[in-house]
Amino acid sequence: MRCGIDIINVNCIYKMLRKHRWNFLNSYYSKNELIEMKKRKKFNRKLEYLAGRFAGKEAIYKATQINFDPREVSILNDCDGKPYIRFDTHELPKHCISISHYKGMVVAFVVIENNEI
Ligand SMILES: CC(C)(COP(=O)(O)OP(=O)(O)OC[C@H]1O[C@@H](n2cnc3c(N)ncnc32)[C@H](O)[C@@H]1OP(=O)(O)O)[C@@H](O)C(=O)NCCC(=O)NCCS
Repeated sequence: MRCGIDIINVNCIYKMLRKHRWNFLNSYYSKNELIEMKKRKKFNRKLEYLAGRFAGKEAIYKATQINFDPREVSILNDCDGKPYIRFDTHELPKHCISISHYKGMVVAFVVIENNEI
């Protein structure tokens, strides 16, 4: 079993957005994540959503040690809001991810059953 964790301030995402705009979004997020982000009405919820995916992908890397293109990984939510990971290029073994936001900080935690992906 492997785990990975990452924490980020939403302000970092805001700064990257201001500096790089769509280049940042298109280079780090999957199409499905961008579609879901746009559904969040408040700007701050969009930032939190993006920060959760950013931290989640860093946590996936820490758990798997696999170099992947972040656009090929989607961290989506099921009908209850629970997040899950979808890799376009790999079969991901049994895993779980959890995300939390509080006062501008976002943390993501990933557990992978084994590391053979
Ligand atoms: C779903 C819930 C847990 C979210 O918690 P929160 O404190 O409002 O929000 P957080 O910032 O900690 O977490 C937000 C993240 O939770 C995750 N989440 C949402 N619904 C979830 C669910 N059903 N299961 C697991 N994770 C969930 C999402 O990843 C979300 O981030 P995202 O939208 O960027 O993907 C909360 O709204 C809820 O329903 N709580 C029930 C509380 C309860 O019954 N407590 C009893 C014991 S005290």
